Amino acid sequence: MGGAVAEAPDFCPPPLSPRMLPFASCLPGSLLFWAFLLLLLGAASPQDSEEPDSYTECTDGYEWDADSQHCRDVNECLTIPEACKGEMKCINHYGGYLCLPRSAAVINDLHGEGPPPPVPAAQHPNPCPPGYEPDEQESCVDVDECTQALHDCRPSQDCHNLPGSYQCTCPDGYRKIGPECVDIDECRYRYCQHRCVNLPGSFRCQCEPGFQLGPNNRSCVDVNECDMGAPCEQRCFNSYGTFLCRCNQGYELHRDGFSCSDIDECSYSSYLCQYRCVNEPGRFSCHCPQGYQLLATRLCQDIDECDTGAHQCSEAQTCVNFHGGYRCVDTNRCVEPYVQVSDNRCLCPASNLLCREQPSSIVHRYMSITSERSVPADVFQIQATSVYPGAYNAFQIRAGNTQGDFYIRQINNVSAMLVLARPVTGPREYVLDLEMVTMNSLMSYRASSVLRLTVFVGAYTF
Ligand SMILES: *[C@@H]1O[C@H](CO)[C@@H](O)[C@H](O)[C@H]1NC(C)=O
Ligand SMILES: *[C@@H]1O[C@H](CO)[C@@H](O)[C@H](O)[C@H]1NC(C)=O
Repeated sequence: MGGAVAEAPDFCPPPLSPRMLPFASCLPGSLLFWAFLLLLLGAASPQDSEEPDSYTECTDGYEWDADSQHCRDVNECLTIPEACKGEMKCINHYGGYLCLPRSAAVINDLHGEGPPPPVPAAQHPNPCPPGYEPDEQESCVDVDECTQALHDCRPSQDCHNLPGSYQCTCPDGYRKIGPECVDIDECRYRYCQHRCVNLPGSFRCQCEPGFQLGPNNRSCVDVNECDMGAPCEQRCFNSYGTFLCRCNQGYELHRDGFSCSDIDECSYSSYLCQYRCVNEPGRFSCHCPQGYQLLATRLCQDIDECDTGAHQCSEAQTCVNFHGGYRCVDTNRCVEPYVQVSDNRCLCPASNLLCREQPSSIVHRYMSITSERSVPADVFQIQATSVYPGAYNAFQIRAGNTQGDFYIRQINNVSAMLVLARPVTGPREYVLDLEMVTMNSLMSYRASSVLRLTVFVGAYTF
């Protein structure tokens, strides 16, 4: 406490908001001038465009004093280097400071600290309003406090010159917290659909793998990896956030999820093809042995070369088809003393003595069976062509059955069945003479005829 006026400051309210001080009501009249000056200077001091955030306790020029639980004035004259330039001297006051000509006498600093109160400069009074200075033409021009370092904006703040004043503002993406501009954590506000990366003064949205930023830079849209060169070897299916590789039919996806390898269908089952399965890229095919053709996809069917005309038999020959091939036989197979009476029938004339002990007729027949037939199997039925009243027919295998692969089962006295007794494997062929002996009841008559049956056994079971 000092100076000329003793009664002044004690009546002032705690100066938490110095610019709003009701000076006129608490200051002695002799200080009214300075109060006015302070008001002007106060008006010219930094205008904060943003209000302090919630946790801020003190306004500009004050700092929190934990001991007294009050905002305490900062003595800028001590804390700001070169607070006043040139010939000006620094006078601290609540919430700010003054720069006055050195010659000015300080009447009172309003709070009893700092140098004595200044008096207006007698020698070089600035005729201009605060924030202006006279130029050579003695007119008042604005002082650019920002470029002349006459501002007290924090390094984190931007200084904006104004006519007669200046403004400390926070850059975009910053907000004022206490005296400083602090980066706004935009990520707290969920601007981003997926992920947010806070940056000084800004933020950036990022997307999970499989997505990319949308045109608004905030939402994430699915990337169609299939259009972007996804490494699928065959087929690519885009899905939300990812993609799937698939393979064409007959291929399977490799463990890597991208490449396709041929499925060896033939290894899956031996029933895919009746004869031979051939694996091919993406598929398989069935093959048949020579003499067969594919029936549908897997079965093999004997080619009837005699029917298709693929045979090489001559005019004098008869074509006989069997499983897997064909045979050309002489159309006339009759051997002396037999004479041909029709295509496949040879007769031994009774008039010929050589025929007395021979079967009276030989009929040629051909048949074909497959290998490995289950046995016993009825393979051929013999039927008497002429039936005589009171006559009896007996059937037997007269020749060609040396290993007993066949036997005859008599059905009745006019027919019998040739039965395969053992499973046989081709290719092979039998020539069986099946004899029918006809007798009358008195046994006075006996006649024999032969059916010469050629049995082809194919090489396969089909
Ligand atoms: C998104 O970001 C790009 C690159 O940073 C920019 O060019 C574009 O203008 C931004 N779009 C929007 C809508 O902000
Ligand atoms: C053989 O069958 C025929 C026709 O059925 C018949 O007439 C004949 O009497 C039969 N012979 C014997 C011995 O049963």
